[in-house]
Amino acid sequence: MQDKILLNQNQIPTHYYNILADLPFPMDPPLHPGTKQPISPNDMSPIFPMALIEQEMSPQREIEIPAAVREAYALYRPTPLIRAVRLEKLLKTPAKIYYKYEGVSPTGSHKPNTALAQAYYNKLAGTKKLVTETGAGQWGSSLAFACHQFGMACTVYMVRVSYEQKPYRKTMMNLFGAEIYPSPSDRTEAGRRILAQDPDCPGSLGIAISEAIEEALQNEHYKYSLGSVLNHVLLHQTVIGLETMEQFKMIGDYPDVIIGCHGGGSNFAGLALPFVRDKIAGKNIDIVAVEPSSCPTLTAGKIEYDFGDNAGLTPLMKMHTLGHDFIPPTIHAGGLRYHGSAPIISALLNHGLINAKALDQISIFDGALLFARSEGIIPAPESSHAVKAAIDTAVQAKEEGKEKTIVFNLSGHGLLDLSAYEAYLNGKLTREVEQAVA
Ligand SMILES: Cc1ncc(COP(=O)(O)O)c(C=O)c1O
Repeated sequence: MQDKILLNQNQIPTHYYNILADLPFPMDPPLHPGTKQPISPNDMSPIFPMALIEQEMSPQREIEIPAAVREAYALYRPTPLIRAVRLEKLLKTPAKIYYKYEGVSPTGSHKPNTALAQAYYNKLAGTKKLVTETGAGQWGSSLAFACHQFGMACTVYMVRVSYEQKPYRKTMMNLFGAEIYPSPSDRTEAGRRILAQDPDCPGSLGIAISEAIEEALQNEHYKYSLGSVLNHVLLHQTVIGLETMEQFKMIGDYPDVIIGCHGGGSNFAGLALPFVRDKIAGKNIDIVAVEPSSCPTLTAGKIEYDFGDNAGLTPLMKMHTLGHDFIPPTIHAGGLRYHGSAPIISALLNHGLINAKALDQISIFDGALLFARSEGIIPAPESSHAVKAAIDTAVQAKEEGKEKTIVFNLSGHGLLDLSAYEAYLNGKLTREVEQAVA
C-alpha cells in the first residue's frame, strides 16, 4: 500500500475544468449595482483584465492553462494525495482517509493556483499593480508572491483582526515586495466610513474588498484581484480536483465522500467540481462544504442577490449570504470570515448536488490536534474544518461498520497560525456559537 500518491511534473493539468458547461440548470447572472440589469463585460473592465472577464462568463468546458502559468505551477505542483494511515489507525476506522495537500505551495495554501493565473493575465494586459484584500493573509501572501513572479506591484488590505493576530503573514507579504494596510484603514472612503462608526472595528473581508476596489478604481493601470467567490477563481482551482482524479485512478479507487472547508468557496470548489461533474452524470458521491458556525453562510444564510463587499461596489451576485454588512466574530479561521459564497457553490447547494455543515471553533481545533499528532502536519485553522469533518465521517463509518473512501482538501498549513494553537492549548478559545447570527 502506498501512503503518498504522486504525479510527475508533466502531469500538471493542461486545462482548467469549467463546470458552467455541465450544470443541469441555468445560473442567475450578476447584476449591475446601479441599473440592476445583467452586467456586461465592459462593466467589469475597470477592475479586471478582459481575459479573466471572458473566463468568468465562458461556456467552454475546458480552458487551456497558459505555458507560463504551468511553468510557475511546476514550483509546487502536482501536489501529493496522501493516505492518512496513521490517523485511520488512531480512529480505528474501516474508512480510508485521503487528503490532497495544498500546503506544499510556496505560501502554504491553495491560493497561488489562482494568484499565478491572475497575475499572468494581468501582466499580459499591461496592469502595473494589483490591489487586493486578505483575511488571514494566505491570499495576500499568495498574490504578493505571484505579482513578484510576473513583475508587478501589489497592495494588500488585510483585515485588522488578522493583521494583529498574524504579524508574520505581513512580513511574508513585505518579503515578496507588497505594501500592506490594516483594514478598515483611513486610506479609502469605505474604510473611513466604517472607522467613523466604530474606531475599533475588527474589520471583515467585505470591508477590505471595498477598500481594495476603491483603490484599484483610482488609476487606470491598477486592477483588482479577488482570491475566491468568482467563477474564474473557482476555475483556476480545479487543478486540485483534476490531479486528485488522476491520483485515484493510479490506485484504482474513487471517493465516496469529498470534503472541503468553505470561506468563499474556492478550495472546496477546486477539489469538488471535477467530481460534481461525475455526480451530475449519476455517480453516488457525498460532497460536503464545511464552514464555521460563527459565519454560517451556507447553513443559515439566505440565497438572494447581494453585494460581494461591504460598501456595495461589486456587482450583485445570487448567492448564499448573511448580508453584506455582517461582521463575523473574530475567530482564528480568518479566511472563512466571509458573509457570502461563490454563486456556483450556492447554486449547487440549492439544487442538492452538494451538502453543507457548520462546526464550532473548539471542535475544529480538537480535530486539528488529532491530525497534527498522527499525520505530523499542523493544518491551517481554515483547513481544520475539513479535517474535523473528515474525522467525524470516518468515526461514523466505524459506527456503521462501513468501508468508505473519504478525501478532503488540506488547503493549507498552519505554521503561521501558531498563536491560534497557543490560545487553543491554553484554553483561551470560545466555542463562539452563541455569537453566531446575533
Ligand atoms: C488555508 C485556507 N483555506 C481555505 C480558505 C478559504 O477560502 P476559500 O473558501 O476561497 O478556499 C482560506 C482563505 O484565506 C485559506 O487561507
